[in-house]
Amino acid sequence: MARLALITGGTRGIGAAVAQRLDADGLRVAVTYHGNETAAQDFAAHHPIPVYKWDVTDFDACRSGIERIEAELGQGVDVLVNNAGITRDAVLHKMSVAQWREVVDDDLGACFNMCRNLIHGMRERGWGRIVNISSINALKGQFGQTNYAAAKAGVIGFTKALALESARKGITVNAIAPGYVATDMVHAMDPQVLAGIVAQIPVGRLGEPDEIAHAVSFLVDERSGYLTGATLSINGGQYMA
Ligand code: CAA
Repeated sequence: MARLALITGGTRGIGAAVAQRLDADGLRVAVTYHGNETAAQDFAAHHPIPVYKWDVTDFDACRSGIERIEAELGQGVDVLVNNAGITRDAVLHKMSVAQWREVVDDDLGACFNMCRNLIHGMRERGWGRIVNISSINALKGQFGQTNYAAAKAGVIGFTKALALESARKGITVNAIAPGYVATDMVHAMDPQVLAGIVAQIPVGRLGEPDEIAHAVSFLVDERSGYLTGATLSINGGQYMA
């Protein structure tokens, strides 16, 4: 039977590109979404991929959502892509407690909520692939993103620790640190600020969601079993570390 992949935040942006790529690769795919109903309906109308709704910051919702998917699709989740994420950009001296907490809960806490509820099954079956979407700004910092940079840097530490714990069980855990990719999140930025950032990208353009999906496909491949604990930068040369 084909492996089952679950992608959080999978109805638009990088997540939707990942879902389509893994589907094309021959995996069974399911996606989650939370906020954007229009995007979810549009995705469901155009792709034969089941769509589930829950809040990934809610631990119990993650547990029951995963149980439902596994029951409905008749197999355990073998591949998890923790992609759902948000920004609440503000300089620290203006940042509210809510802006801090929402980003840490969504961008870092969700990795715990999802992995904690899936890891047993992967360990029992002796095979798993986890890919956590971090960010260039975890590595280099970004003006106006203490919350996001901290959460996404946390994702990298989480990835390395879980990779160590999972290595003997046939489970790889890796992170991808995308640069500025043409998604709703990036297009929500002030156009002048964004133009200034694009000017600093050696490749001279934003990334495409498909370019991130290509790397996810590689990391979750059957042949990538020796690749674990890594953080793969895909940023057009904007930051090399
Ligand atoms: N470096 C140095 N100084 C800067 C600066 C920078 N990058 N950006 C702004 N400043 C300066 C401004 O010139 C201004 O100076 P003055 O007070 O002397 O005029 C001061 O800092 C305050 O700046 P703003 O007026 O811009 O502050 P603000 O509160 O209005 O805006 C902000 C803050 C909206 C967060 C803005 O800084 C910003 O848009 N930053 C970029 C955030 C960003 O890159 N977000 C990425 C979202 S997409 C994503 O995150 C995906 C991913 O993984 C890459």
